[in-house]
Amino acid sequence: MSKLLIRGGHKLCGEINITAAKNSYLPILASCVLCEDEIVLHNYPCYLDTKNMCEILSSLGAKIKETDHSLTIDPASINSFSIESALAGQVRSSIFMLGPLLGRFKKAKVAYPGGCEIGARPIDIHLSGFRKLGVDIEERHGYIYCDAKNIHPATLLLEFPSVGATESLMMASVLLKGETKIYNAAREPEIVDLQKFLNSLGANIRGAGSGEIVIEGVEKLSGGEFTPIGDRIVAGTFMIATAMCGGNVLLKGVKPEHLQAIIDKLDKTACTITIKNDKIKVQSDGHPLSLGKIETAVYPGLPTDLQAQLMALSCVCDGSTMIVENVFESRFKHVPELIKMGASVHIKDRVALVKGVKHLYGAPVTGMELRGTASLVLAGLVAEGYTTVEGIKHLDRGYNNFENDLQSLGGDIKRIDD
Ligand code: EPZ
Repeated sequence: MSKLLIRGGHKLCGEINITAAKNSYLPILASCVLCEDEIVLHNYPCYLDTKNMCEILSSLGAKIKETDHSLTIDPASINSFSIESALAGQVRSSIFMLGPLLGRFKKAKVAYPGGCEIGARPIDIHLSGFRKLGVDIEERHGYIYCDAKNIHPATLLLEFPSVGATESLMMASVLLKGETKIYNAAREPEIVDLQKFLNSLGANIRGAGSGEIVIEGVEKLSGGEFTPIGDRIVAGTFMIATAMCGGNVLLKGVKPEHLQAIIDKLDKTACTITIKNDKIKVQSDGHPLSLGKIETAVYPGLPTDLQAQLMALSCVCDGSTMIVENVFESRFKHVPELIKMGASVHIKDRVALVKGVKHLYGAPVTGMELRGTASLVLAGLVAEGYTTVEGIKHLDRGYNNFENDLQSLGGDIKRIDD
C-alpha cells in the first residue's frame, strides 16, 4: 500500500495549474448517456472518481478514448441501463446515472452509490424528485429499479438544495417533452457548468446558479466538445496549504469568483490574496491569525469540502477557531488523526473548537475520506519532523499528482510503497 512521507517546515513558492473540477466532470460524464453522437471533453483530470465513472460508461457500452488529457466519448453504442454494485458502489456519482438512463431508455437499474463516508448520504431527495416526475421506483436487494414509461414534466421543490439531486433531475428532464422546473435547486458552479455543457449539445436549460432551474425538453442532443471549469476545492486546498506553510503561490486555471467565500475568510487573516487576470496569488508569512468562526454552507457559502483543510490551518493559527459543519453529519474523521500530531480539537456534535498550538509534530496518520486525507497532508507540511499519511487512495479520488505539485512548490513530500 502506498503512503506519503512528509517532512514539515518548508515554504511553498511557485505556480500551479489547477486541474478540471472533479464535481463538474462527474455529472458531465453521466450526462453523455443522453447523447448519441461523439463528445470530446478537455483537461481530463486523472482522478480515481472520474476513472470510475468512465468504467461505468464503458460497462454500459460506451466507447471511450483518452489522448493528451482529452476524452473522446462515443455514447452511440450504449445498450444497457443497468449498473452493478461493483461499479456503482465505488462512487457517489453513480447515482447521477439514474437521470440520463431514464432520459435515454425510460428504464434504469442502479445499485446504491458509494462515495466518501462523511454521513449517511441518503438519496431520498433524488428519488422523491423522480417520483414527482412519474417514475415508478422500487428499491430491493441493494438496487434501485426505475420505470419511466409514464414520466411527465413537473414542478419540483427540493427539501434541501442537494447538488446531486439537482443534477440528476436536470438530466432526467433534458429529453422530456414539456417544461420541468426545479425550485430550491443547488447553486454550485458545477451545476452551471453542467447546464452550459448540455446547452452546448442542444439542450434548453436556464437558471442554473440560481435557486430556480427551468428545463424545456428537446428531441435529441448533438455531439460537441467542452472544457469543464477548474476545481475550486483543489485550488482552495493549495491556498490553505500556502497560508499554513508560508510562501508565495500563484494559482491558474480556476475562476476566482468560485472561491469568494474562502478568499474572504483567508484574506488579511491567514494570508494576503490578490486577484489579477483570473489568477489568484497567495502570500503568507506562515503565521496565520485565527479565522474566528467557520460555518460551512451550501454555495455560495463556505464549502464543506474545505472544512477539513481549514481545520488543519486552524490547528496552527494564533488563537482559537470554532468550526461548524452544517452540511454533512459526520465530517470530522480527520480530528483524531490531527490530535495524534499534537492538535487541540474538541468536538460536540457538528461543532469543533480548535485551539491553535505553537507546533504540530510529525506522526503516522491515516486518512478516512478524501478531504480529511488532504487535511492530514497539509498538517504534515507544517509539522516538526516526519509524517506518514496512509489511506491515500482516498486522496487520489479528487487530487491529481498532489504530492508532485506540492514538491514542485518546495514541499518535502513523496509517495512511498510499503
Ligand atoms: C456533492 O455531493 C459533492 N460530490 C460533494 O463533494 C460535496 O461535498 C456535496 O455535493 C456538497 O457540496 C459530487 O458532486 C460528486 P448533496 P452530494 O446531495 O451530491 C443530504 C468531495 O469531497 N441529502 O448536496 O452527495 C446529504 O446527506 C465530495 O468532492 C439528503 O438528505 O451532496 C447532505 O447532508 C464530498 N438526501 C446534504 O444533503 C438526498 O437525497 C448535501 O448533500 C441527497 C442529499
